[in-house]
Amino acid sequence: MSKLFVVFGATGQQGGALVNYIISHPDFSKDFRLRGITRNSSSPAAKQLHEKGVEVVELKDGRILFGFAWGPETKLPLIDINDTGKYLSPALRDPIKYNGCRLIAATAFYTAKEQVDTWSTVSGKEVILPEEDIPLLTSDPLQQKMSRPGTVLEKWGYYGPTGEEDLCWMHNQLNEKLTTWKEFLESNGPWFVE
Ligand SMILES: NC(=O)c1ccc[n+]([C@@H]2O[C@H](COP(=O)([O-])OP(=O)(O)OC[C@H]3O[C@@H](n4cnc5c(N)ncnc54)[C@H](OP(=O)(O)O)[C@@H]3O)[C@@H](O)[C@H]2O)c1
Repeated sequence: MSKLFVVFGATGQQGGALVNYIISHPDFSKDFRLRGITRNSSSPAAKQLHEKGVEVVELKDGRILFGFAWGPETKLPLIDINDTGKYLSPALRDPIKYNGCRLIAATAFYTAKEQVDTWSTVSGKEVILPEEDIPLLTSDPLQQKMSRPGTVLEKWGYYGPTGEEDLCWMHNQLNEKLTTWKEFLESNGPWFVE
């Protein structure tokens, strides 16, 4: 019983099944001691875990880490997907005028910092950015280059060097209000359930 195996979600279906598997396995049960992480160590599921010999640890940080693969000042265009039709409306009204035009669909460019700050305000929870680079799930060199602070996205912008001007032009073609990030957050909660 030398190695420690920590299971997040141990009180749930998947984590619980993994715990049961290890506990009842002839070899793994000897190799590993189990620690189950829960938000509530007095719940029935947590008590059951404890009865099985699992060390139950309660973790209640209260902060939400927002896994953002770029730097905190990198700007990304955000859209409420329900606004999609509004961006097409100029071309529907006057197809000839807008033929060949690039219609950028975004309410605004928001930095990661702006996103989490607004999210914190709306949700009442502390949403924060990781202080260090988060590991990328891709081994593709181009995706890696795209997803690191100070590289392609920050240098050239999501829509290229004229992206901000192009978005401003786009907004001037619209006659319907777009949903802001704050409004989107306000109307799509609750974001974090205890
Ligand atoms: N079951 C499936 O077939 C299946 C298939 C594909 C994907 N998934 C996904 O895999 C995940 C686990 O599935 P499940 O079926 O095992 O779910 P589940 O039975 O509902 O269990 C959820 C587990 O996550 C923990 N948890 C819930 N909210 C949390 C939070 N905000 N912070 C930290 N821990 C939290 C709960 O622990 P406490 O309440 O004890 O803290 C519980 O142990 C889910 O995201 C599910 O959507 C499941």
